Amino acid sequence: MPSLALDRSTVHYEDLGESRAGMPALVLLHGFPLDGRVWMSVADQLKSKTRVIVPDLPGFGRSSVSGSFSIESLADDVETLVARLRAGPFVLAGLSMGGYIALALGRKSGAMLRGLVLTNTKSGADDEAGKAKRNSMIEIVKARGTPAIVDLMLPNMLEPDAAKDKSDVVSQLKSIMLDCPQRTIEIALTAMRDRADYTELLVKLDIPVLVVHGTADAIMPESSARKMSEQTRNGSFVGIEHAGHLSTMEQPQAVADVITKFLEEIGATS
Ligand code: MLT
Repeated sequence: MPSLALDRSTVHYEDLGESRAGMPALVLLHGFPLDGRVWMSVADQLKSKTRVIVPDLPGFGRSSVSGSFSIESLADDVETLVARLRAGPFVLAGLSMGGYIALALGRKSGAMLRGLVLTNTKSGADDEAGKAKRNSMIEIVKARGTPAIVDLMLPNMLEPDAAKDKSDVVSQLKSIMLDCPQRTIEIALTAMRDRADYTELLVKLDIPVLVVHGTADAIMPESSARKMSEQTRNGSFVGIEHAGHLSTMEQPQAVADVITKFLEEIGATS
């Protein structure tokens, strides 16, 4: 897995496939407390179509960071990574926290950003109850470490029958979550608690937006994802059946198919 040294971080990333005329590259951003592996089954389906870059965000997976980070600083890091890899024009797909980062990057996007794929995510900021929950999770991770956060979150990450029907996905997801450093969890919870509300941005974005959502997502309701796509100028919504919050791991082929169609439409029009 190659890596690049940025200002305050070293970012490891997968760089698969190759740029094709008329097709933008694709950058896939993972959620919390996860790493690039949650996108790899989708990336494997897409790499024959275009160049696909899957970073471990600073502090996650194999990537390191010195000091703290915010959703905005992660967006800056992604922008720098894409520029250093000469991967533009590109489409950015973000899963959950990765979607917050994609929206933060969309806010200041240059001509190189051709589209957004918002996957199992939302545009709104945390309300007071949400912020209080983040604070309590920060206390939990400080006191009891990463395993306590895994115990708390894992039961809601996948569709309800996952333990019976997708035990391999459950164990892979659990091991990815357990690999997330305690300090990264603390910083990421703070970053998500303090993130901006990107709903206003949705209305202004003049690039195509695809909202992809597992219909059995217990963490983020499908109704708010549908609403998010309605709030965009150029948005469309696709529900992924038999998937919860981790649609990219639960139904990678279905997710890859909708992203391929989106890339082809953008490629054809750019
Ligand atoms: C994620 O999957 O990235 C998180 O559930 C996002 C969040 O906690 O807001």
